[in-house]
Amino acid sequence: MKALILTPSTKDVSVQEIPVPKPRDGEVLIRVHAVALNPIDSIYVVHPIAEQEQRVIGTDFAGVITAVGPDLSSSTDLRARIGGRVAGFHQGACSTNDRPGAFAEYITAPYDLLWSVPDGMSLSDASTISMCGLTAAQGVYSRLGLPCPFDDQTGALTTNGSGITNVLIYSASTSLGLYAAQLVQHAARTSGRKIRLIGTASPSKHDLLRKAPYSYDVLVDYRDPNWVDKVKKATEGKGIDFAVDSISEGQTVYSVHDTLAATAKMAVFRGPKGGQYDPSELRIKPIYGAVWEGLGHEIGYNGAIFPANPEARVFATKFFNFLSTAAADGNVKLEPNPVRLMPGGLERIVPDGFTLLGSGLVSKRQDTSRTEDYMRPISGEKIVYRIQGEA
Ligand SMILES: NC(=O)c1ccc[n+]([C@@H]2O[C@H](COP(=O)([O-])OP(=O)(O)OC[C@H]3O[C@@H](n4cnc5c(N)ncnc54)[C@H](OP(=O)(O)O)[C@@H]3O)[C@@H](O)[C@H]2O)c1
Repeated sequence: MKALILTPSTKDVSVQEIPVPKPRDGEVLIRVHAVALNPIDSIYVVHPIAEQEQRVIGTDFAGVITAVGPDLSSSTDLRARIGGRVAGFHQGACSTNDRPGAFAEYITAPYDLLWSVPDGMSLSDASTISMCGLTAAQGVYSRLGLPCPFDDQTGALTTNGSGITNVLIYSASTSLGLYAAQLVQHAARTSGRKIRLIGTASPSKHDLLRKAPYSYDVLVDYRDPNWVDKVKKATEGKGIDFAVDSISEGQTVYSVHDTLAATAKMAVFRGPKGGQYDPSELRIKPIYGAVWEGLGHEIGYNGAIFPANPEARVFATKFFNFLSTAAADGNVKLEPNPVRLMPGGLERIVPDGFTLLGSGLVSKRQDTSRTEDYMRPISGEKIVYRIQGEA
């Protein structure tokens, strides 16, 4: 089979032939139909941290099960049956230790870290959800503690005495922000409490964000020099109770911090080093975590070792079960990101997709100067490649 392989020592990435992997106990073999791109896919190719000779790169995937591990042959779970349509994510080259990647014609994965894609959803759409959806769920439920529709831990909603909880999502049109808003709306439904959802995004995205499933109450332009004051005014001067900084890069962290009420919580998705901010300057400490914890393995990442985190893995399985229920009841729990289906397959991911993503800060992405329509800057969309079969 073909796979997109990084040689860390030379930073070379090429499509190569490697053996089709075999599913072990608890795993399934998946024919990959679609993959979605994330900023870290390109960052850790241009600045490799992998310590092996070669690594299959890529995180988000969706496809069809073609074989199951020895212990799953009589399983009735839709995610462990040949022909099942599933989605999930791998770590790709985003760790020092060896972990599997998604950009290949076939991959294996533990069935309980997959979700069952409903018949009405394309595999391209499904490929956009797993990694950023789980990241957003970890941020909104595990770190901020908002009421969670699929976990017993029922968070409390701070209301500052007004009966309304003020939630800010900075950079609402990021992939992460599009999922975080939907999860905040699930928290409001789960608790029966009123949440005032406030977002920052380019004005061209405001119409999309006002509508369901995002349903923002207030939107401001993050390029407006007065956006922090406008957000505070929208809270009637009380400040934000829960903030999600979907960019978490330098000034965004300090500005989001300026909107917070005294008892607020704030979730970030880049650590201080990668995000270039100093938590010691902040009254309320931003809460950071890496989505990889959900995969349940020890990982070497950004100069640290993240030990295997069984609790985070259990949370991930509950999240994927929650997504899977749509396959049975027909109600999609998270709308996928709008998809930009790119021309070509594995061989075009680096020259086109990674050019769009860049390899530095999201907030400093340069226009690529490429003239093809599919090379316009990423805004409120996920970049998706078809690998094989129906996507
Ligand atoms: N901790 C983790 O485990 C984890 C997991 C996933 C992602 N992440 C990180 O989360 C960040 C977001 O990832 P993503 O995939 O969601 O990004 P993305 O969708 O590629 O981000 C694109 C968006 O960035 C927005 N943007 C650009 N510059 C901005 C600025 N200065 N202020 C506000 N918004 C700006 C644009 O908004 P407009 O179009 O509205 O201008 C655009 O919609 C990345 O840094 C990623 O590495 C972390």
